[in-house]
Amino acid sequence: MSQKSPISSRIAQVEESATLAIDAKAKSLKASGVDVIGFGAGEPDFPTPEFIVEAAIKAAQDPKNHKYTPAIGLLELREAISLKTRRDSGLEFSPNQIIVTNGGKHAIFNTIMTLVDEGDEVLIPSPYWTTYPELVKLAGGVPVAVPTSIREGYKVTPQALEPYITERTKLFIHVSPSNPTGAVYSPEETFDLGRFLLDKGLWVMTDEIYEHLTYDEVKSTPILSSVPELTERTVIVNGVAKTYAMTGWRIGWMISPPQVHKAASNLQSQVTSNISNISQRAAVAALLADLSCLDEMRTAFDRRRKTMVAMLSEIDGFNTLEPEGAFYVFPDVSGVFGRSIGDTKVTSSMDLTEVILEQAEVAVVPGEAFGAPGHLRLSYALADSALVEGLERIQKLLQG
Ligand SMILES: Cc1ncc(COP(=O)(O)O)c(C=O)c1O
Repeated sequence: MSQKSPISSRIAQVEESATLAIDAKAKSLKASGVDVIGFGAGEPDFPTPEFIVEAAIKAAQDPKNHKYTPAIGLLELREAISLKTRRDSGLEFSPNQIIVTNGGKHAIFNTIMTLVDEGDEVLIPSPYWTTYPELVKLAGGVPVAVPTSIREGYKVTPQALEPYITERTKLFIHVSPSNPTGAVYSPEETFDLGRFLLDKGLWVMTDEIYEHLTYDEVKSTPILSSVPELTERTVIVNGVAKTYAMTGWRIGWMISPPQVHKAASNLQSQVTSNISNISQRAAVAALLADLSCLDEMRTAFDRRRKTMVAMLSEIDGFNTLEPEGAFYVFPDVSGVFGRSIGDTKVTSSMDLTEVILEQAEVAVVPGEAFGAPGHLRLSYALADSALVEGLERIQKLLQG
């Protein structure tokens, strides 16, 4: 009898999220008494602002929120998203072009499933967020990584993209600020990229989840504000997770042209129905408030970013670019390869991650998870004291 796997080949090719896996490993070591410091998390260490929590409590007490509501989201929330998009990006979209999803990740899933056909190629600048290529594969598409390096600040240009375009290229994935590099495209870079994508007739998915987390004088530039002509072939994905410290509430959204909206609405109506009404009401409160609740968090992130970059730059063999947005630092660590640390000869960032976890009890994420071997990703969304202690441990291990 054949030993056919019960798992479909489509699902079998999907890899576990490396970032969530590292985070889970660090948390379980911690639970077993090991004093692990985790730089793996992709979430703010702040609680959700109180006024948002209050709105959820009120919503939970109102029986109208105990029932099914429209699969694409509450009209009040879609109106709030429409207003927020005008306020923050200067773009006009009707609530009828918006679908509320189970976090930004689900908006990305809907978008890719709706746009990508068997064999379609999707251009993804690397280093990339680990979820993008996995979802492209799930849709039957072909993820095409377009490499960038520290020299270009981890950003793609039209010249870098040109050789990767084929007859099957359907979609380009844009994210600025970026996870994992923290790179932010300038207005000029965004314009050049947008014009190129327009000329090539490509679809664009623009992931704006970190739009408000930028530092110094840097601001993020929405690609559609820069090149409005792309509107007919662009899907915006966004959510409340990072801006309002609401990762656990699972509210995201997609804004798309009518034909895509209709198809993605059908998909959502079969797969999830509506997202939790309680979370949706909380998101209305978040989006209708001004952005001042972000100030404290952004100030803390900025301070930690500077500390982290300074401390990583002191390590021999690390090459660290100061990120302009999000909450990650992505040092090129290939300069330590070939060295022996304890009993281990380090030849990859995967090796280095293991050595750092075992010998310094510090969790970081290897660049392999982002299509960028030779790097590590460290999140600075953790308390200042833990951040300094964790970096001192890494310094001591690698300098000692
Ligand atoms: C680049 C990027 N996009 C989207 C998301 C999805 O966020 P969520 O599903 O929590 O809203 C994340 C979360 O880590 C991210 O880093």
